[in-house]
Amino acid sequence: MAGLVGRRDKNSAQSIRGLRIAVAIVIGILFGGIFASLYPHGLFSSNHASQFQGRRLAKSILQIGSTSCESSELVNMLKSDLADLSTKNDDLKKQVRDLTNKLMAAEQKNGNAEKQVVVVGEPQKAGAFGTVKGIRTNPIVLADDTVNPRLLKILKKVAVKNELIVVLANSNVKSMLEAQVTSIKKIGIPNYLVVALDNEISGFCKENDVPFYTRDPDEEIDSVAKTGSNHAVSGLKFRILREFLQLGYSVLLSDVDIVYLQNPFDHIYRDSDVESMSDGHDNMTAYGYNDVSDDPSMGWARYAHTMRIWVYNSGFFYLRPTLPAIELLDRVADRLSHPPPAWDQAVFNEELFFPSYPGYIALHASKRTMDRYMFMNSKTLFKQVRKDGNLKKLKPVIVHLNYHPDKLPRMKAVMEFYFNGKQDALEPFPDGSDW
Ligand SMILES: *[C@@H]1O[C@H](CO)[C@@H](O)[C@H](O)[C@H]1NC(C)=O
Repeated sequence: MAGLVGRRDKNSAQSIRGLRIAVAIVIGILFGGIFASLYPHGLFSSNHASQFQGRRLAKSILQIGSTSCESSELVNMLKSDLADLSTKNDDLKKQVRDLTNKLMAAEQKNGNAEKQVVVVGEPQKAGAFGTVKGIRTNPIVLADDTVNPRLLKILKKVAVKNELIVVLANSNVKSMLEAQVTSIKKIGIPNYLVVALDNEISGFCKENDVPFYTRDPDEEIDSVAKTGSNHAVSGLKFRILREFLQLGYSVLLSDVDIVYLQNPFDHIYRDSDVESMSDGHDNMTAYGYNDVSDDPSMGWARYAHTMRIWVYNSGFFYLRPTLPAIELLDRVADRLSHPPPAWDQAVFNEELFFPSYPGYIALHASKRTMDRYMFMNSKTLFKQVRKDGNLKKLKPVIVHLNYHPDKLPRMKAVMEFYFNGKQDALEPFPDGSDW
């Protein structure tokens, strides 16, 4: 005890000086943090250079206490003073701790604000009532040519305006691919690429002059492709598509059980990260509605409103090469590669639509549901359109035979009906499957 007191006496003048310096540092730090959060764009101008001055100031002050000028005597002195002060004076220690906590909170808040600024761009004033629009068209990524030069070469040849249709196929679905290619050729879509998952498919493409791409044989994910079931191949596609987007291309992913009747690129809006066809069969189910659930035991509050929408079809969607689109692919691929086993279409939709909540940060991707009569599923066609004189006259862009197991005969019937005008071509089929 005596020794401690003696030491304190001996150093009291130095301690007071040290205290002053410590307080000055803490004030400087706090001021820097507050400065940065109050004026994230700088006090004197709005240019980016001044944006982080406050934080930099705070950081440089902090660094004096840690590593930056290790050799300086002054710093060493300050350090030992600070150590003395914070071990000997509980009150001051608490103050320093409080200030440090406040500083950390201020810095954290400031960091978030910066992130926001980076994503959203220059801040701007909100316009008048009714004129304000949030961002839905995100910037496209900087193309990275090194990701896959061989694929890039193919894309340069096949894509039109940096867009193309991409279809994955193995020999299990060869007959449907054949039917699809017939429709593609009939309407003359040039930017159509088959990812051939086995030799039979690449052979078919060669013979028929269809652009195709084969993956490197040593790719680990491709072992799935060769023998894979439909669902395994579905998971694979999210991984393969990533490179297309990284190379700066927009992709219209297509299943094989789809007949093309018009060029889809004439009917894409290109204003969203994800534009997808719907499994919905009327306006409500396709575009969303308020489904009221009823719990009579709650009396006055018996009605609970719920938001519903039929899933997006993960067999036909258009992705712009944006960060949210790539993040979507990564999130889906990651979840499909881990237990529990999941259906890729369910995962695709959950990632797209569920919001952030405690313990979960959601994807923030903009999305657009495609016109359900232009990008038509087979439930719409067989339950509604073929029975309606007016709707029968509409020519869809595509028909996806997603609702029916007898896909090939229905694909052929769709072509008979829309290409060859055979009015009764769709009649032999039941609305749903017979089981
Ligand atoms: C369904 O939605 C389309 C597209 O918004 C619209 O043009 C049409 O009038 C709607 N039909 C009905 C029955 O509400």
